[in-house]
Amino acid sequence: AADLISIPVVFHVVYNTPEQNISDEQIHSQLAVLNADFRRTNADRINTPTHFADLAGDAGIEFCLASTAPDGSLTNGITRTQTSSTSFSANNNNIKRQDRGGAPAWDRNQYLNIWVGNISNDILGWATFPGMGSSSQYDGVVLFYKTVGEPPYNPFRSQFNKGRTATHEIGHWLGLQHIWGTGNESCSDTDYIDDTPNQYSPNYDCPTGTIVSCENGPYGDMWQNYMDYSDDACMNLFTNGQIAYMQAVLNSSRSELLT
Ligand code: ARG
Ligand code: ZN
Ligand code: CA
Repeated sequence: AADLISIPVVFHVVYNTPEQNISDEQIHSQLAVLNADFRRTNADRINTPTHFADLAGDAGIEFCLASTAPDGSLTNGITRTQTSSTSFSANNNNIKRQDRGGAPAWDRNQYLNIWVGNISNDILGWATFPGMGSSSQYDGVVLFYKTVGEPPYNPFRSQFNKGRTATHEIGHWLGLQHIWGTGNESCSDTDYIDDTPNQYSPNYDCPTGTIVSCENGPYGDMWQNYMDYSDDACMNLFTNGQIAYMQAVLNSSRSELLT
């Protein structure tokens, strides 16, 4: 197995109301979820069906809150910015722009930037993919503030309150496509990963049993995968193929983070 990779993370909390100014504890709870999911120590790994268990892996990636800021000063890895903007859109990068009421990125070659704010309820989160050279100041993940961490720190509705939006978005940030592929409803598109079953379209809510699409029987769609759209409580794995892809990204377009 590859060496354990440790990624320094900075959370930029951009808040308009006190409720949006989520606590340090809620962010620590998110870190714990990420470290469990990317090391496959998540308690719900036992819910991975036996027929997919051999495909599931430990990504060997861990996340730590940054302890040194870009200017060399000590930090707890959390910045807090009060904004007059009542919400932020996923159609622009305003949350990442000081001149638009957001918070500027820290050097993407040294940190994973995660912005937390009042983006739309429906979107939950979004991420930039690797290799977006021209927009380095926008590189990273954006999370709807209510999706961060787990109960008791996270009071959001139970579908999306287990911190898996961050797991999913970091999957994108490390190059993973949605498990059903880059189209919406198609069996001829792909997620470019060999060991994930070909899948027609997203799965929502919490499926039970086998959902066959794209002739992927007998086991069907891998709706337990972090890169599907299932509820947080129903996702529990990355595959070895996805892990190899993320590791390759970390060793190529995101290799500056490792030095
Ligand atoms: N819609 C978002 C995306 O495609 C996030 C989906 C998160 N899903 C979840 N169960 N938390 O990136
Ligand atoms: Zn996604
Ligand atoms: Ca596949």
